[in-house]
Amino acid sequence: MIGDRTAAVFGGTGFIGRYVVRLLAHNGWRVIVASRHPDRALPMKTAGVVGQIVPVPADVRDDASVEAALHGAAAVVSLVGILYERGRQRFDAIHVAGAASVARAAAAAGVERLVHVSAIGASANSASAYARTKAAGEKAVRAAFPGATILRPSVVFGPEDAFFNLFAGLARNAPFLPLIGGGKTRFQPVYVGDLAAAIVQAADDGRHAGMTYELGGPRVYTFRELMTLTLEVAMRKRPLVTIPWGVARIQAKVMGLMPKPLLTLDQLEQLRVDNVVSPGAAGFDAFGIVPTPAEIVLPTYLDRFRPGGRFAIRRAR
Ligand SMILES: NC(=O)c1ccc[n+]([C@@H]2O[C@H](COP(=O)([O-])OP(=O)(O)OC[C@H]3O[C@@H](n4cnc5c(N)ncnc54)[C@H](OP(=O)(O)O)[C@@H]3O)[C@@H](O)[C@H]2O)c1
Repeated sequence: MIGDRTAAVFGGTGFIGRYVVRLLAHNGWRVIVASRHPDRALPMKTAGVVGQIVPVPADVRDDASVEAALHGAAAVVSLVGILYERGRQRFDAIHVAGAASVARAAAAAGVERLVHVSAIGASANSASAYARTKAAGEKAVRAAFPGATILRPSVVFGPEDAFFNLFAGLARNAPFLPLIGGGKTRFQPVYVGDLAAAIVQAADDGRHAGMTYELGGPRVYTFRELMTLTLEVAMRKRPLVTIPWGVARIQAKVMGLMPKPLLTLDQLEQLRVDNVVSPGAAGFDAFGIVPTPAEIVLPTYLDRFRPGGRFAIRRAR
């Protein structure tokens, strides 16, 4: 049943956004899905009844389109982000000015709750422009909408993720898996379903207003451990080969020129710093959510990378 509450999800057609849109709809919200390509939201319409999920065109670089998109919304979720710069999609324009545009429009429209998704590692002092602009974006959002809830996830995993799918694909096609800088950087992967549950709760519940949370999964892994786990789940044997930082820099420089780069110099800077929940940071506990272990979820989608494919084991029985 649809209630009378409307939520607008900027970046609702992205990896995390699609889970947020479906969960909001499941919980009875009308959902405006705002992105530059509203057609990409069409497959989600079946997650609601007729008229419950409404794709609308919006570009966070265009204030008027942002204001129009969140018209009538009681809650706004701000998920727009980029991993590398292309054309007019610059880190400043998206993570700072774009995030501020959504927050300003939400405040002006009298929206009750704003949930802004940043990232662990957001810092004004980072060597990475992604992380610096994420920090500046948080500041701009707080200035425009002091009651916003800011969520900083670690690397997010789930069936359509860009991390485990990338390395499982490499395990299938490449002779080795790379350990950039020796693979010692630590990560705390968080399940997309848990993150979406926290976002939807923050959109619903005033207790989270004005808070900043860091969201990580139940376990911290080194990059090397994540590669070993990926190989185990994909049932592949590949050597793990250390790529010294200097060599990785050259590779990232070349790859950074590709239309959809696998690695950029800016991402390399992020890889130098641990991506884990800070000691004492508020996190999933505040939501009553017990984060899901990667070991439970990964086999449900990385099995397609196994030798012979997803059905090989069943056929062998
Ligand atoms: N995935 C992770 O591991 C991870 C980890 C930490 C933090 N985060 C943060 O979480 C957020 C969502 O990440 P994601 O993985 O879901 O990203 P994603 O799959 O790349 O989705 C990005 C979304 O933003 C929209 N978008 C891009 N440029 C836009 C613009 N100018 N105006 C309006 N919409 C625009 C895209 O739709 P269109 O292209 O159609 O406009 C898409 O809906 C980001 O802020 C990201 O930094 C993600």
